[in-house]
Amino acid sequence: MDELLVIGIGAGNPADITVGAVEALARADVIFTLDRATTDLTRARDALVERYAPNARNVVVEEPRRDRAASAYAEAVHDWRAGRAATWQKAIDAHDGVGAFLVWGDPMLYDSTIAVLDQIGAEYTVIPGISSITALCAAHKIALNRVAGEVLITTGRRLREGGWPAGQTELAVMLDGKGAYRNVIDEPLEIYWGAYVGAEEQLLLSGRLSEVADRIDATIAEARERHGWIMDVYLLRATE
Ligand SMILES: C[S@@+](CC[C@H](N)C(=O)[O-])C[C@H]1O[C@@H](n2cnc3c(N)ncnc32)[C@H](O)[C@@H]1O
Repeated sequence: MDELLVIGIGAGNPADITVGAVEALARADVIFTLDRATTDLTRARDALVERYAPNARNVVVEEPRRDRAASAYAEAVHDWRAGRAATWQKAIDAHDGVGAFLVWGDPMLYDSTIAVLDQIGAEYTVIPGISSITALCAAHKIALNRVAGEVLITTGRRLREGGWPAGQTELAVMLDGKGAYRNVIDEPLEIYWGAYVGAEEQLLLSGRLSEVADRIDATIAEARERHGWIMDVYLLRATE
């Protein structure tokens, strides 16, 4: 290809796409999409493509499935990425012009597009996007950090397996959807929780973790039932 672009398209609010992303989409001849099941999210992405890259060709890259049952998580992800690299390389080699991979949120945060393209030695440009953490803080009208403080960005799995990390006062938790905050319910914490942040279905709850955890659990269960999937992100903050 003449050029490859990795475009952050925001966390779900169509208004949160940047001018840089709109300009990059307008230049794209080929949009590479991954063969995921159609969901509200894929439909939302398709709507952005229709609006900002109406003439681009959509090329579906067929990916290997990840072994989610594997006990060695890092190893399973490594193998899956190797399989992906081969199929992406094939798709890129088969096309000319400007190609684009679209990434929800920002490509720098819990996304493997950059890692896979590095693995195949591709040249590419990254267009940053508004991440779900940015959107969460805006929705709750909070700053991510406290004055001169630090924040650890982590996953639901790590919180479930490792508990509250020693010495930390703020955690931003992603890739959960299963209530990993339950594992730290006895700590003196506040939670700022959001699901489908930025989208029409957005759900927000906040308060002392011990007091709102039941409501968040029930909200997750209801939302999962209604939509068939959930994506949530939250900030846990030690009370002073
Ligand atoms: C594979 S990561 C992608 C993160 C993305 N690159 C970003 O910048 O936000 C997927 C996780 O991001 C979070 N996420 C992404 N979009 C979200 C949204 N609109 N509402 C809530 N959480 C979201 C969830 O924690 C989800 O499990």
